[in-house]
Amino acid sequence: MAVQSEIPLNYLQGPVIGIETSCDETSVGIVTGKTVLANVISSQSEKHREWGGVVPEAAARMHAELFLPVLKSALQEADISLHDLVGIGVTNRPGLVGALSVGLSGAKALACALKIPFIGVNHLEAHILSPFIDSSFTHPHVCLLVSGGHTELILVRRPGEYSKLGGTIDDAAGEAFDKAARTLGLGYPGGPAIEKAAVGGDPDKYPLPRGLREPTFDFSFAGIKTAVARTVEQYAENLDISSLAASFQTAVTSVLAERTLAAARESAVEQITLVGGVASNNELRNRMAQLASKQNIQVTIPHHRLCTDNGAMIAHAASWRIAIGELSSLDLEASAKSPLP
Ligand code: KG4
Ligand code: ZN
Repeated sequence: MAVQSEIPLNYLQGPVIGIETSCDETSVGIVTGKTVLANVISSQSEKHREWGGVVPEAAARMHAELFLPVLKSALQEADISLHDLVGIGVTNRPGLVGALSVGLSGAKALACALKIPFIGVNHLEAHILSPFIDSSFTHPHVCLLVSGGHTELILVRRPGEYSKLGGTIDDAAGEAFDKAARTLGLGYPGGPAIEKAAVGGDPDKYPLPRGLREPTFDFSFAGIKTAVARTVEQYAENLDISSLAASFQTAVTSVLAERTLAAARESAVEQITLVGGVASNNELRNRMAQLASKQNIQVTIPHHRLCTDNGAMIAHAASWRIAIGELSSLDLEASAKSPLP
């Protein structure tokens, strides 16, 4: 076993605001250290559902409309005023550049007006650190980051020090859920729609491929997606949608859970964390917990509301980064792609 140690994070003393507009959630969170004072999330998914997926320009326009009302509700929920804030964090990478720019401009305006520290946050790091909000845990540990744009297995040596162990070679897990849901006519976002449709379905009814075979820490979901489309065509009006949704969910979650456990064993760690939107899937949460308990590995998963995109996780990452002395300048730009720090 690797030497495991608990590394407590230091935070700014006082309320820090986090602004998240990287995709289709406009969110503002406020934290003081590990305490979440507010986490207001306004999802645009109803609108994007009509178009079958996220339309970048529409997302940016809606962030602009929603930003101030969401900011106001967050301050109300936290029961503080703007002048109580001691720091500002904003997602500036990776994501849709137009969407990111809305939150970034808002954050810069606040930083100028309030004259308090401001930092651009890497969205992926905010997800990776999100389990710290309601748990303490050890380092190193293995993190499975599964969202709409990412599927990565990461060795977290300590906060801020990450090594990629593997990742998807094609679709991200959340993207696979979204595409399969579209094929099944279940709408957007696909993850929750498939999870709901799968209830009562038979996960063994339609055998689906599992992508790449071990030994590897990479994933491939393109084959599973194609097999879903083929099954829909083959069974036409006789298709049992609930069982195909269940078969798909089982195929994806079992690959994710088994490979994460293999990575934890290989890295000799005692703890796994599950983060990102797909981590709110109950079959994945249960499967991972069951498999890990047999091997005495602890699994830590944030509360559902901290899994999908949210401002509290941005505020939390910002509070730590600012406390260790990092700041951004007001000419900070938004960026579509970004490696882990
Ligand atoms: O982390 P997130 O909110 O945004 C990104 O950073 O991408 O993740 C969104 C993704 C979507 O693809 C959505 O379908 C998926 O997470 N998702 C789920 C569930 N809830 C959201 N996937 C499976 N089961 C869920 N319950
Ligand atoms: Zn995300």
